[in-house]
Amino acid sequence: MIDFGRFYQQIATGPLAPWLEVLPAQLSQWQRENLHGHFRLWKKAIDHLPALTPGQCDLLNGVSADSDNLTPRQRQGIETLLRQLMPWRKGPFALYGTRINTEWRSDWKWQRVLPHISPLAGRTVLDVGCGSGYHMWRMLGEGAELVVGIDPMQLFLCQFEAVRKLLGDDRRAHLLPVGIEQLPELNAFDTVFSMGVLYHRRSPLDHLMQLKNQLVSGGELVLETLVVEGDENTVLVPGERYAQMRNVYFLPSAAALKHWLQKCGFTEVRIVDHAVTSTEEQRRTDWMTSESLAEFLDPQDNRLTVEGYPAPLRAVLIARKP
Ligand SMILES: C[S@@+](CC[C@H](N)C(=O)[O-])C[C@H]1O[C@@H](n2cnc3c(N)ncnc32)[C@H](O)[C@@H]1O
Repeated sequence: MIDFGRFYQQIATGPLAPWLEVLPAQLSQWQRENLHGHFRLWKKAIDHLPALTPGQCDLLNGVSADSDNLTPRQRQGIETLLRQLMPWRKGPFALYGTRINTEWRSDWKWQRVLPHISPLAGRTVLDVGCGSGYHMWRMLGEGAELVVGIDPMQLFLCQFEAVRKLLGDDRRAHLLPVGIEQLPELNAFDTVFSMGVLYHRRSPLDHLMQLKNQLVSGGELVLETLVVEGDENTVLVPGERYAQMRNVYFLPSAAALKHWLQKCGFTEVRIVDHAVTSTEEQRRTDWMTSESLAEFLDPQDNRLTVEGYPAPLRAVLIARKP
């Protein structure tokens, strides 16, 4: 099983300590009752990976690690085990000669976000809906002191733990398999990221309040989500599916989102980026072999999804908790 004990010890004496009132019970219950049918296989793959201390490790320009001391056979063994954790959606990673070409170029999102945020050096960061943890490693690359990711998807936890093992068991980042709604009001993080999550939430203003409740006073929210064109009263609530995804609830315009953030009590709200998602940024690869964006767009008009809605457009907003 995954050992969360070291994380508990790490936070026991700091501002995250109140989390210990609920987290150990939630995670023990999760380990007892909610394990995915493939979890043991995924865990076995992690256990078989070698515990390596990389000779070279770069988290600033990407997520990569290598070492001069590995044989071709050892390198092949790493790739075989990492392939047992497919599909890989968020990345890319370059680990000991294995290039994990993920469905998403998450590095492109990071390039859009990074120029606009307060420097992460020395900060305690929460990444809500962190996926495989790709951006968490990039946050460490920017000097964050501690990065905590939360994501209920168990495959992503396993991918994160595999990468962590190959990066030398780095203990400055931790992924916990819980949802944002399970967190107490910690008021303890200097920066909170919510990227690609808001449109999955049935109650988006509650989501914004939950994010606010994790920040210290003066802390920064980095919000990235799907939006539509329009003014502050424009919101799309799609039918059963949007771009083939079932669990999509609210796609506001960036102006509406700014208004929502202000209504939730955030200040200094800025819209800093708009980007249409391209089929180069989200695509099928040999590490994620099922359908991807190209199949989710109207083949006659790629400005529309197959359902006839505007094709994915994303915005980044930055806001402060007073
Ligand atoms: C579209 S992905 C975004 C991943 C990453 N943040 C990024 O921007 O590339 C959305 C993620 O949110 C996670 N998620 C869904 N519901 C959540 C919840 N209630 N709390 C936290 N994460 C959640 C999903 O498992 C998924 O990994």
